[in-house]
Amino acid sequence: LKNGLGRTPPMGWNSWNHFGCGINETIIRDIADAMVDTGLAKLGYEYINIDDCWADFNRDSQGNLAANASTFPSGIMALADYVHGKRLKLGIYGDAGVRTCSKLMPGSLGYEEQDARTYASWGIDYLKYDNCHSRKTSPITRYTKMSEALLNSGRNIFFSLCEWGVDDPATWAGGIGNSWRTTVDIKDKWESMTNNADQSNKWASYAGPGGWNDPDMLEVGNGGMTTEEYRSHFSIWALVKAPLLIGCDIRLMSNETKEILSNQNVIAVNQDELGVQGHKVQQDGYLEVWAGQLSGGRVALVMWNRGPAGASITASWSNISLSLSAVVDAHDLWTDEVTSSVQGSLKRDVDSHACKMYILTPK
Ligand code: DGJ
Repeated sequence: LKNGLGRTPPMGWNSWNHFGCGINETIIRDIADAMVDTGLAKLGYEYINIDDCWADFNRDSQGNLAANASTFPSGIMALADYVHGKRLKLGIYGDAGVRTCSKLMPGSLGYEEQDARTYASWGIDYLKYDNCHSRKTSPITRYTKMSEALLNSGRNIFFSLCEWGVDDPATWAGGIGNSWRTTVDIKDKWESMTNNADQSNKWASYAGPGGWNDPDMLEVGNGGMTTEEYRSHFSIWALVKAPLLIGCDIRLMSNETKEILSNQNVIAVNQDELGVQGHKVQQDGYLEVWAGQLSGGRVALVMWNRGPAGASITASWSNISLSLSAVVDAHDLWTDEVTSSVQGSLKRDVDSHACKMYILTPK
């Protein structure tokens, strides 16, 4: 969407994966505090996104959405002020149907302009727009309506389509939103994470500055995967230019979780100005190579062992848009080691469910 936003994939946090409907304004404020105190904000994480269940069950007497008076008693505008005071941005959640997926709050179908105005007046910076209870009308019509309402709202608001990939949004959402979900909901499990990576991979050519494929939010730190699996999750999400929306409780995260989410090398791949989505370029059973171009003629590379035992993977230049004669320096983004003058291919041992990630810089 040409609203000037999302020139690189959005980075931030969202309440759903960890808290579900159990949110309130104290949690959101504390998360904003933690974003700054942990140093994550400095690394580029800027959006604090409230997901489902923030609003009252019914609209108010003027038909406006209203914050749930018991969980968000100070209101959303006060929360936006607080978050902006920390130099962060506030995101919110709505639905392109008559109720949201939780059924606990109204959807925006038929109220698009009114709700976009409300969000703008509160100082909202990002809208995630879900797809439940849609009365089965065309998603293109419903999502276009909200996109235009946001553009006319008087505030520049990042528009995240959450249509779960059911109608191949990559093929039509580029002019409507800044990102579009390509998958079903992620779960905090290896099978779900790898499945979503593959689902999103199909649409790589549709991503670029201003509009990104979204394989769903990060589960890093929620406890259902091993540290190596989370490292793979973060590496692949970065490479495929997915939104990097943290989904754990950053107030209480472990050192391992913080170390993964804070890897500046990996974040730099995600935020590279060229905005090319990396994709799967080589597969031999469980052994995969994913790669994508970076600015300055560099290449980002992930060697990923999805199998049950350690194995050796060889990434061949012929598969990763480098000429066979190219000589590169290979920077390991997790260990920070540099191997100089590599030519033709790179071979590495990779543990089960782990990956190695590199930036290759031609000499
Ligand atoms: C479905 C979405 O895909 C999830 O990310 C989350 O927003 C829930 N709905 C909330 O009900």
